[in-house]
Amino acid sequence: MSRTVYVNGAFVPEEEAKISVFDRGFLFADAVYEVTAVMDGKLLEYDGHMARLERSLGELEMEMPVDRATMLELHRELVKRNNIENGCVYLQVTRGVADRNFVFPKDTPETLVMFTQTKTLTEPKSGLKVISAPDIRWGRRDIKTVQLLPASLSKMAAKKQGKDDTWLVEDGFVTEGSSNNTYIVTEDGRIITRQLSNSILPGITRAAVLKLVAEQGLEIEERAFTIEEAKKAKEAFMTSATCFVWPVVEIDGTELSGGQPGPLAVRLNEIYIEEARKNAI
Ligand code: PDD
Repeated sequence: MSRTVYVNGAFVPEEEAKISVFDRGFLFADAVYEVTAVMDGKLLEYDGHMARLERSLGELEMEMPVDRATMLELHRELVKRNNIENGCVYLQVTRGVADRNFVFPKDTPETLVMFTQTKTLTEPKSGLKVISAPDIRWGRRDIKTVQLLPASLSKMAAKKQGKDDTWLVEDGFVTEGSSNNTYIVTEDGRIITRQLSNSILPGITRAAVLKLVAEQGLEIEERAFTIEEAKKAKEAFMTSATCFVWPVVEIDGTELSGGQPGPLAVRLNEIYIEEARKNAI
């Protein structure tokens, strides 16, 4: 069945949704996006996603295309019209339509596009196998832009080797996964994840999970780690709005936690889902 998508002020069947060939999102990847999970028909971590959207836009001298109340209304309406129980809402804002020019256009209305995807979010998770590869992305990974070709290439490199994902490495240290934040657990139970900077996306799930981790009385170290350190870790996992907390059981051919999802990752996933569900709107 065709989805209903939202394009610049109108809900339309996906076959009828149209964007100009001159849209700067298409020509320059001059656009930012958000992916907000939906569970039981409700939005997870919605405020966090919108706060990050506002920041991403601000860093690129763009503005929120609609006010906060309208944005929430659009999300809810789209979830309703597509009967989404579990899945996500994808939202993209571009600098709009203008003649091709590297200089930003003036007074051009932004393009706002939103659509839904259905997904089983709470299925039991088998552990993921990851490879490492150089991080070839740009220097402002803290902005959630649609320049996703390096991420797509790194995911494909993993798939070609029969693995699931790639942990990206810069100057000898892991930055993040192709579309997720990365964590390792030390033998004495400390959780290590890279500190926020321009090198990684400030994951909304990351923020929520770190809060839960602190509440559980577990120790967090926000610092960079190497693939060598990760291979010796007790467990490893990654987080994102679409995977929540997902255990990693192999890094560059080295098995972790006996090839089974680590108990801490499994527990954190359960706690995360429980909390996120409580706070869903
Ligand atoms: N990706 N790092 C990168 C590079 C990402 O693309 C993502 C999310 C994350 C995790 O952020 P969050 O917890 O806010 O989802 C980290 C989304 C899910 C995507 O591109 O589909």
